[in-house]
Amino acid sequence: MKKILVTGASGQLGNELKFLSNKLNSVQFIYTDYEELDITNANAIAIFIAENSPTFVINCAAYTAVDKAESEQQKAELLNASAVRNLTEACRQNNSYFIHISTDYVFSGCSYRPYNEDDTTSPTSTYGRTKLQGEKHALTYDKSIVIRTAWLYSCYGNNFVKTMFKLGSQRNELNVVFDQIGTPTYAADLASAILQIIEKILVDPTTFKRGIYHYSNEGVCSWYDFARKIIQIGNYTCTVRPIEAKDYPTPAKRPYYSVLSKKKIKDVYSITIPHWEDSLISCMKILMNE
Ligand SMILES: NC(=O)c1ccc[n+]([C@@H]2O[C@H](COP(=O)([O-])OP(=O)(O)OC[C@H]3O[C@@H](n4cnc5c(N)ncnc54)[C@H](OP(=O)(O)O)[C@@H]3O)[C@@H](O)[C@H]2O)c1
Repeated sequence: MKKILVTGASGQLGNELKFLSNKLNSVQFIYTDYEELDITNANAIAIFIAENSPTFVINCAAYTAVDKAESEQQKAELLNASAVRNLTEACRQNNSYFIHISTDYVFSGCSYRPYNEDDTTSPTSTYGRTKLQGEKHALTYDKSIVIRTAWLYSCYGNNFVKTMFKLGSQRNELNVVFDQIGTPTYAADLASAILQIIEKILVDPTTFKRGIYHYSNEGVCSWYDFARKIIQIGNYTCTVRPIEAKDYPTPAKRPYYSVLSKKKIKDVYSITIPHWEDSLISCMKILMNE
C-alpha cells in the first residue's frame, strides 16, 4: 500500500488532514510531529523516509510565530529553511513527491492586484524571508509542489477566528485593523485541496506539475471585515471598530495587500474553492457546538 508521510501533523493543517484522510482508503497515512520526527534533524529525516518509503511527503511543520520570529531568527531559519532542505534531500533520495506549504508573507504586500505565483517576492519579515528560503530549497527538486496559503484558521490550535470568537463573548468592543487586505483560508479546505491533488497524481502520474501554487479561499476582505463576520455569525453584541495598522504596532511588518490569485491551481488541478464567508460559517458551526 502506498504511504503518505505528514510532518508537523499536530498543527492546524495537519489535524485537518488527519480528519479528512480516512476518505482516501487506498493509501496509508503516517502522521508525525516534533516528538516522532523532528524535521530539523537531517539524519532522522533521512532514516525515517528511507525506512518508510512514502510516495508523498506533506510538510505541515513550520515556525509560524510571525512576531516572535523577529527575535528568534535562527530558530525560524532552522525550521522554515534548513529543515525544508533536509526533507527535500530525503525525498530526492527516495523519489517521493514533496508537498510543502508556504505563505503570502513572501510578498511585500504593495500590489494592487492578486499575486500570481511568478510575481516578484520581497518578504518584509523574518517569517516571510525564512519561508521563502524554504520554498527555494523545495523547488530544487523536480517532484516538489509548493502551496502558498494565507490567513489560515481552523478549529485546532490558535488563530484569528478562535481569538475573535472568544473575545467577542468577553468584550463590548474590539479594535481591528482595516487597512490590511487578504483572504482567509479554512485549513480544512486547504487539506481537501492537497488530498485532491494527491489523488489525481496517484491515479495518473502525468497530471503532476511541479512548481508553486496559490491557495486561499475565494473573496477578499480586511481583518476588520473578517472580525465583523465572526462576531455576526457568533451572534455577539460586541462592536468591532476599524483601526489602522500603524495604530496596532507589531514586531513583524505585515503585507498591506496579500490576495493570492488561485487561477493556476484551479486550471492545473481542477480545484474548486469555497468563498471565505461560507467556509467561516462551516468552521464556526463546529466551534459553536464544542
Ligand atoms: N497559520 C497561518 O496563518 C499561515 C498562513 C500562511 C501559511 N501558513 C503555513 O501553513 C503551514 C501550516 O501552518 P499551521 O498554521 O497548520 O502551523 P501550526 O499550527 O503552527 O503547526 C505547525 C506544527 O509543526 C510542529 N513542529 C514545530 N517544530 C517541529 C519540528 N522541528 N519537527 C516537526 N514538527 C514541528 C508544531 O509543533 P509545536 O506546536 O509543538 O511547535 C506544530 O504542530 C505552515 O507551513 C505555515 O507556514 C500558515
